[in-house]
Amino acid sequence: MKESQAVDTTVDLGGISLRNPVLTASGTFGYGTEFAPFLDLRRIGGFVAKSLTLEPRVGNPPPRIAEAPSGMLNAISLENVGVEAFIGEKLPAIPEGVTVIASAFETDIDRYAEVCKRLTGVPRIAGLEINASCPHVKSGGIEFGQDPAVLGQLVRATRQATSLPLLVKLSPNVTHIAEMARVCEGEGASGISLINAVQALEVDPETRRPLLANGLGGLSGPAIRPIALRMVWQASQAVSIPICGIGGIISAADAVKFLLCGATAVQVGTSNYLQPSIAADVADGLVEYAKRHGIPRIRDLVGELEFPSR
Ligand SMILES: Cc1cc2nc3c(=O)[nH]c(=O)nc-3n(C[C@H](O)[C@H](O)[C@H](O)COP(=O)(O)O)c2cc1C
Repeated sequence: MKESQAVDTTVDLGGISLRNPVLTASGTFGYGTEFAPFLDLRRIGGFVAKSLTLEPRVGNPPPRIAEAPSGMLNAISLENVGVEAFIGEKLPAIPEGVTVIASAFETDIDRYAEVCKRLTGVPRIAGLEINASCPHVKSGGIEFGQDPAVLGQLVRATRQATSLPLLVKLSPNVTHIAEMARVCEGEGASGISLINAVQALEVDPETRRPLLANGLGGLSGPAIRPIALRMVWQASQAVSIPICGIGGIISAADAVKFLLCGATAVQVGTSNYLQPSIAADVADGLVEYAKRHGIPRIRDLVGELEFPSR
């Protein structure tokens, strides 16, 4: 490949065509428009909007974010404008040509399916991601993504509710991620996104209380990246549907690591708070990496990790 030759950055994420494999992660990029002053949203593959519930939802009381070593803890608890306000007010404000993936969250399976139904057929929505994995919102005491049987029911119901490409966002708070990935594939998911935040606790020794008002929170940022890479790699060995890798990406090199471990695309989360245009820099950096290594198509990197055989 010649230096002057253009790199093909396009990827297909389970039926969602992306101009490049760099998305931004749900809950860290608002509804897209908040970031428009900082970057041309067409420089990235697209964004996943904040998870939506049927009705507007107020999150946990503060403090609900806290700093952690190489990351942050949050227990926002899915505060959002609700599905109707997203469709009526937020979506029309997003510039043309930007790929939008909507995220659904609810407290029971029928309501999840209803959110998916309402988002289907809405112009501008290229696909759905169902958040089966919020580490600080529980139904019946567990995350939806922690029990394979419940996860299977959730994927089946949401799959039936929508004709859009359906990504299922999995929890890292499980023992066997490969089993969860297989359940999603078996129930017809178009792809898998992983990981969500890792359940965590930070403590103030003076007050002897947790730092977050909620007690527990979700750890995100570079601190979780090696966990995320391990889980993406394990899931990619178990299924043939595409994977979207998430967790602590702060550079193009980090994105390359996820592609090598088997991710078709990636999402940038917490680092948007440090540098709001970082996702576009990651996308540009992928092209530089491909040129430097003589790779004509970014997708040729997917799954190319040379893992030691035992
Ligand atoms: C403040 C905050 C809010 C989040 N809200 C959501 C959400 O609404 N839906 C969701 O699926 N994930 C949510 N996440 C999880 C992220 O999308 C992502 O999976 C996680 O932070 C790991 O990626 P990162 O290390 O790049 O941040 C949130 C994360 C943070 C830090």
